[in-house]
Amino acid sequence: MSNKLSLAVIFGGQSSEHEVSLMSAASILANLDREKYNIHQVGITKEGRWLLYEGPAEGLSDGRWLRESTPAFLAPDPTVHGLVTLSEGGARTVHIDCVFPALHGKNGEDGSIQGLFELSGIPYVGCRVTSSAVCMDKAIAHTLLSNTDINQAHYLWFYADRYRANSETVLNKIQARLDFPVFVKPANAGSSVGVSKVERPEDLPAAIEKAANEDGKIIVEQGIDGQEVEVAVLGTRPGAEASCVGEIGASAQFYDYDDKYINGTSQLFIPARLEEDVAQKVRETAVKAYRLLGCTGLARVDFFVTREDHRVVLNEINTLPGFTSISMYPKLWRHGGLTYAQLLDRLIELAFEEARNG
Ligand SMILES: Nc1ncnc2c1ncn2[C@@H]1O[C@H](COP(=O)(O)OP(=O)(O)O)[C@@H](O)[C@H]1O
Ligand SMILES: [Mg+2]
Repeated sequence: MSNKLSLAVIFGGQSSEHEVSLMSAASILANLDREKYNIHQVGITKEGRWLLYEGPAEGLSDGRWLRESTPAFLAPDPTVHGLVTLSEGGARTVHIDCVFPALHGKNGEDGSIQGLFELSGIPYVGCRVTSSAVCMDKAIAHTLLSNTDINQAHYLWFYADRYRANSETVLNKIQARLDFPVFVKPANAGSSVGVSKVERPEDLPAAIEKAANEDGKIIVEQGIDGQEVEVAVLGTRPGAEASCVGEIGASAQFYDYDDKYINGTSQLFIPARLEEDVAQKVRETAVKAYRLLGCTGLARVDFFVTREDHRVVLNEINTLPGFTSISMYPKLWRHGGLTYAQLLDRLIELAFEEARNG
């Protein structure tokens, strides 16, 4: 009998951030302590098929996981407490003690799969259903936080079908309420997919269509001229702790997908180039937002600090932030003295702590 924990690492997913997830998962798999964990690699294809892949982790980047694997699903039945695999010999179950979703964006970070984890009765890393869904939806998160003393950019949101039915009214509202430049975004997406910076009213329709390709709900925000900074929060809701503040020196017009994953040209500054009192305010606001939105486990809370008057403006909360070894979240904790492997251990402990506390 091994006393190792049986850990399912889930990656891929039906999401525009499928490829990003493969990168995060590869780092997670490379850093998990094999003395402590029996690891089951579960990939979800872009079509939504679930596969148990038992080969080397390098197979995630070259597509081997798609070919050399067996169909397998996480059972919603808590008496199974694990995976059901289907091979030629029939169905088999694999007991799982804990799930680590290395997923981003739609279906992975938005509460969908968290709902399945809840049904399965298996402890899992990260936020629960409601906080995942709320943080994923920028319109809902903004609306909830607008009743607090946390600053956000002025914004408005609408459904894409309402825009198509009556674009004039929506376009007029945007121009009446916001100053250019504005940012047009799908309410539910990530990794800057579908996000546009719009300088002139005539460019709004194209930006709205682009965002509408990603989600049926669109948010338009006042552009903020500021430093872009991020905080890694770790812990249960009451026990949440903030890392130091990190800063992104974007190389493009804004921090876009290519910048994040392709060029790797944006520079990270850890700690951020901020006065101590401003950094402290950013960290406090991060923990406050984390608690207000009911987060647990982890989240990366992103801000702007305005150039003119150093106001702390919340941008968004990512409940499953990028997790490659060069990503901001693990790097911020590394700066605080926690190695990547220790961070993974801590996240798994927190999954059990949260399951115990309910
Ligand atoms: N209101 C804003 N003002 C200035 N820049 C913004 C604003 N909103 C977004 N951006 C820029 O666009 C990037 C992506 O937007 P974000 O809301 O973080 O979407 P995602 O969820 O895709 O990361 C941000 O990292 C930032 O560079
Ligand atoms: Mg972002």
